[in-house]
Amino acid sequence: MKVSNLDLFMKNKESITGQDLYKKAKKLIPGGTMLLSKRPEMFLPNKWPSYYSKAKGCNVWDLDGNKYTDVSIMGIGTNILGYGNKEIDEVVSNVVATGNMSTFNCPEEVYLAEKLIEINPWADMVRFARTGGEANAIAIRIARAASGKDKVAICGYHGWHDWYLSTNLGNDEGLDSHLLPGLNPLGVPSNLKGSTLPFLYNDYEELENLVKNHDVGVIKMEVQRSSPPKEGYLQNVRKLATDNDIVLVFDECTSGFRETNGGIFMKYGVEPDMTVFGKTIANGYALTAIVGKREVMEAAQKTFISSTFWTERIGPAAALKTLEVMEKAEPWDFITNMGMYITNQWKTLAQTHDLKIKTFGIPALTGFAFDSEKMLEYKTFITQEMLKKGYLAANTIYSSTAHTKDIIDNYLFELNDVFHVISKCEKEQLNIDNLLESPVCHGGFKRLN
Ligand SMILES: Cc1ncc(COP(=O)(O)O)c(C=O)c1O
Repeated sequence: MKVSNLDLFMKNKESITGQDLYKKAKKLIPGGTMLLSKRPEMFLPNKWPSYYSKAKGCNVWDLDGNKYTDVSIMGIGTNILGYGNKEIDEVVSNVVATGNMSTFNCPEEVYLAEKLIEINPWADMVRFARTGGEANAIAIRIARAASGKDKVAICGYHGWHDWYLSTNLGNDEGLDSHLLPGLNPLGVPSNLKGSTLPFLYNDYEELENLVKNHDVGVIKMEVQRSSPPKEGYLQNVRKLATDNDIVLVFDECTSGFRETNGGIFMKYGVEPDMTVFGKTIANGYALTAIVGKREVMEAAQKTFISSTFWTERIGPAAALKTLEVMEKAEPWDFITNMGMYITNQWKTLAQTHDLKIKTFGIPALTGFAFDSEKMLEYKTFITQEMLKKGYLAANTIYSSTAHTKDIIDNYLFELNDVFHVISKCEKEQLNIDNLLESPVCHGGFKRLN
């Protein structure tokens, strides 16, 4: 009899449920897990299966072998081509068979750099890393070195490093409008205060004033997150940067390759001096890239930026293959159309049940929020009820090519019942607090007990 990976995995593990393993984790791993967004508390405290034994397509199996359809964050946006994509996994298996590490460098990194320049003809050079946060830290170091100025103006989420979290020194709400509220900068040296200055998206005057009143050397921003840019906004930011000798960095870790073959900025006809890609570039394998103009990137030679595991081979090999597959399949059209379909269906469902919702995000990363003070309770309830029906679901869907229309229609069919109950709660015919079988999910960063 053929033994599957799942069987082997289960055989070697103690018999334990995901929730119990997570209890153990919280004693061994501060924060329970390495990524805030994967904390079970962000979904369904005490009930979320928490750990997976296998993932394929848009399916995830928990430790008990239960199979779920992932209509949530899909590995937090890493797998546009679905989990365990055959073509990419074959390349990775070959790397494992022939050696992932050696004293020599891997040739794939050179070909990958070449490919990224082909995709970004405005750029000349590339550095690689393995996480989005470190790629952003590298971009900031290079940009500061190139501009000769310390101050950075930021808009959006750019990771966990000191340079970014320092925004919250002195004003602990500095980052609240930039994806994750409540981030505590404890441990970040207090003398970094004032070195990173936040500005609100689509508020050009605020950025202009920042530049007028501070010696800003770098503008770092997400090109688009919750809503599209106002007419001319990105063009104005570009001009402001050029006129003031500021290095403009677009963080495309999350938006890249979701609407175009490269950065979403291509859609708006504005070019940065540097851009950062992550998440989507290697379909679940670790590879991030900093792509930029020669005059900026060369500054990397004058400072020290170097790390052992930035030289392993799986990341660049997987990224090269992912870019090849994506270039042929153009998945951005599929995931964008599917995202628009989902968004419209949510709106229709809400209307049917007399519920007020707001939708947000680029279509491939669509989300909705109830216009209600019980928003987090309702989100928890959706996760609770949909889990019973075999779905990993909350209020955002990161689409992948594995999300066929049938899968999405079945999900929407099941969600209809949940919206019906929420509607009754809004009309005070039912009490949501009595329907929840676990504590309410977290809405941002919180210390775990
Ligand atoms: C725009 C953006 N930049 C940077 C990051 C950080 O990437 P990582 O979590 O890989 O460090 C993220 C992650 O969500 C992101 O969305």
